[in-house]
Amino acid sequence: MKILVVGGGGREHAIIWKLKQSSLVSKIFAAPGNAGISLIAESVDIKADNINGLADFAKKNNIDLTVVGPELPLTLGIVDEFNQRDLRIFGPTQLAAEIEGSKVFAKEFMRKYHIPTAPYQIFSDLTEATKFVKSAALPVVIKASGLAAGKGVVIAHNQEEAVQAVERIMVQKVFGEAGTSIVVENFLEGQEVSVMAFTDGKTVKMMLPSQDHKRVGDGDTGPNTGGMGAYCPVNFMDDITLKTIKEHILEPTIYGLEREGRNYKGVLYAGLMMTPAGPKVMEFNCRFGDPETQAVLPLLKSDLADIFIAIVDGNLSIIDELEWEQKAAVCVILASKGYPDKPEIGRRIFGLRDYSDMDSMLYHSGTRREGKNWITAGGRVVGVTSVENDLPSAISRAYNVIENIKFDGMIYRTDIGLKSAAMNRSYGG
Ligand code: AMP
Ligand code: GLY
Repeated sequence: MKILVVGGGGREHAIIWKLKQSSLVSKIFAAPGNAGISLIAESVDIKADNINGLADFAKKNNIDLTVVGPELPLTLGIVDEFNQRDLRIFGPTQLAAEIEGSKVFAKEFMRKYHIPTAPYQIFSDLTEATKFVKSAALPVVIKASGLAAGKGVVIAHNQEEAVQAVERIMVQKVFGEAGTSIVVENFLEGQEVSVMAFTDGKTVKMMLPSQDHKRVGDGDTGPNTGGMGAYCPVNFMDDITLKTIKEHILEPTIYGLEREGRNYKGVLYAGLMMTPAGPKVMEFNCRFGDPETQAVLPLLKSDLADIFIAIVDGNLSIIDELEWEQKAAVCVILASKGYPDKPEIGRRIFGLRDYSDMDSMLYHSGTRREGKNWITAGGRVVGVTSVENDLPSAISRAYNVIENIKFDGMIYRTDIGLKSAAMNRSYGG
């Protein structure tokens, strides 16, 4: 089977790495891919949002299955276009992808189908929004409705910050048209957990839960990023909690979308806050998370290509239950100084090699080649994933590997996984 993977980040690198293990797969193309991905797949110079270009390529090269990594092509309707051309593709249609593409839609949908989430109000009028946030309980959470690469959320701790956030999103349009409408919601307390599930619109199979680290700095300080690291599984998520998430969040979402004429095939990602009153949805994504995928897929024993095909064919119920390694994985992202606002790129990277001898993988996010040299080419540069029998060992292994890698202005968090490990009595003796 020939597969085309759309995207060019660490998530796509991990998806391709996993697909390479399948005996069903004979060749993998990546569009646009990146320098690290080029080591294991053939890069194709077509951007992820060039839907017609991608469909033409798939047709011409007899691609058997296209797998979409990022949200943008999904919200632009790549799946609809491929379906029209009779090309097999893994991911939700444009209508189904609105669960990520519009936070206004997602919140209204959750209200209608009684899916637990923070109480909220929606505004498209500046005066009304400003008036509301002036009297809202603090902290208050203000979100641009549309796509903003994980950065469209402001947690305001006082009135002035709240009014400013509304102004920046709705008037200065710092997130462009994504800020035409906003969601203002109550602040939720608790630990954040990411739960991703495979679904063909009828059956839901959950992946192991993982935890992202969204803030740039240690101890959850500094601005939100795309994600600075993740670990899997999350040890405080017991079977009962996972069952609740499946039955009260994921399944009602999939069945509700079906009722709305938005049949969902692909990965549904629930970004949850584990509050004292139970799990609540902060956001849905219509795709695999980045960097969660780099920590989750290395633990998946089942054949990923098999799962993708079953979903596209609507047969997810008849494949075997997902099998997982009884191990722990952690992914630590190495980023460029200045990330997320103004990353400094173009630096030579030292120490990029195959670390499989240390039970670790490097998943490239933003790298390029200049002759034999590796050069930084993005805010997030590379993720180091280590798999060990337990989380503390995986964490120390990943940081050991990192000691070998260097570039000017390299930044990373030194506390990935510690929130969970701190709860695990075996950590630190
Ligand atoms: P989102 O893109 O909606 O997941 O929001 C990005 C980040 O903002 C989340 O990962 C949380 O850290 C934070 N956040 C979003 N909504 C809330 C909320 N209602 N309460 C507390 N934190 C939130
Ligand atoms: N890691 C968060 C996301 O993929 O949206």
